[in-house]
Amino acid sequence: MARHIIAGDVITFQENTDRELFASTLVFAKQQIRALVERNPDFYPMYTREGRWKHEGESWTHWCDGFLPGMMWIVYGHEPAGTDEAAWWRETAIRYSKPLEPRKLDRTVHDLGFIFVSTYARWHGFTPDPSLKAVLIQAGKTMSLRFKEKGEYLRSFVADESLFIDIMMNVGIIFYAAVETGDARLLDVAMRHTLTSRRTLVRGDGSSAHEAIFDLETGECKKQTTHQGYRGDSCWSRGLAWALYGFGTAYGYSRDPGFLSTAEACADFYIANSPADGVAPWDFDAPEESRELLDTSAAAITASGLFQLSGLCMDPVKGAFYADCGRRIMRTLCVRHLGQSPGWEGILKGGVYHIHKNLGVNESVMWGEYFFLEALSWLLRQP
Ligand code: GLY
Repeated sequence: MARHIIAGDVITFQENTDRELFASTLVFAKQQIRALVERNPDFYPMYTREGRWKHEGESWTHWCDGFLPGMMWIVYGHEPAGTDEAAWWRETAIRYSKPLEPRKLDRTVHDLGFIFVSTYARWHGFTPDPSLKAVLIQAGKTMSLRFKEKGEYLRSFVADESLFIDIMMNVGIIFYAAVETGDARLLDVAMRHTLTSRRTLVRGDGSSAHEAIFDLETGECKKQTTHQGYRGDSCWSRGLAWALYGFGTAYGYSRDPGFLSTAEACADFYIANSPADGVAPWDFDAPEESRELLDTSAAAITASGLFQLSGLCMDPVKGAFYADCGRRIMRTLCVRHLGQSPGWEGILKGGVYHIHKNLGVNESVMWGEYFFLEALSWLLRQP
């Protein structure tokens, strides 16, 4: 029974009800995933249209196939060992993960971290088989081939001169491959990309730009621009969430304190500029006419990034504060934004993929589902 108190924008709770809320949300998420597998077997969705996963809408780029199997691995981790349920989630996670293996050589996207950290890294976490690790290492090596010496960044899928903030979520797989192989060149690429992203995409106030454009001859950064945000000088909410999470991951691998302070600056910007319930508009600088449009996927990624950051912070008080902020976001998502209306196929409503192309606007989006479940899983593992 929900005993959350909603007063204006703030959702508070009574003792023990958070755990009930998060546990019942996991049950709902499992139902939605199973229904999707039964309805559209072996289909890898990206975003809904009027709440339905399967449609003819364009994808823009091919980056989301890891999220559905990734959610299956997360659910599997919560099933009691040895049960039929656990066996079903594991078998289905493997069935959906395996077809992704050839993408370890995919040079057309900058998203190999999204695809393989959600799947093969989780699979390897349960089954430490060297052949699974080899897939991850190859994906890291392939990602590293995007590196532009002039400018010192991993190029986006769009063009040689383009650097996206989203790539901060994918550079982690290069750090991983560097650590596992001891290859200094991989570490160098990962470090230099992260330093360039910090210098050209994260601003002094902790806000972030979506894209930087470089001069290919000189390597000079010419300007900040955007594809999915409002303007080149605005702060696209999901980009900020990728930055917060990605710089935290880079700090986890490198222990470079500059990366930790960047992750904290992004977290502080998100927290200071969001409404009290923790769910921000699709762009922090959105104009009046679309100010009401939220992006719940940015909120879910932020919550998971804050939970990661809470474990990385040097200062335990700060760490506890970030965990509290993540919990507040998750409470809001669970109380207000679940896809519980009849016929809605997603778990979380209110995500935004690409507003200018009118793709997945105010819909469920696969990365929102995945990071929401990741954050939920973190909460349910807390004592
Ligand atoms: N292309 C990654 C995103 O839409 O956030």
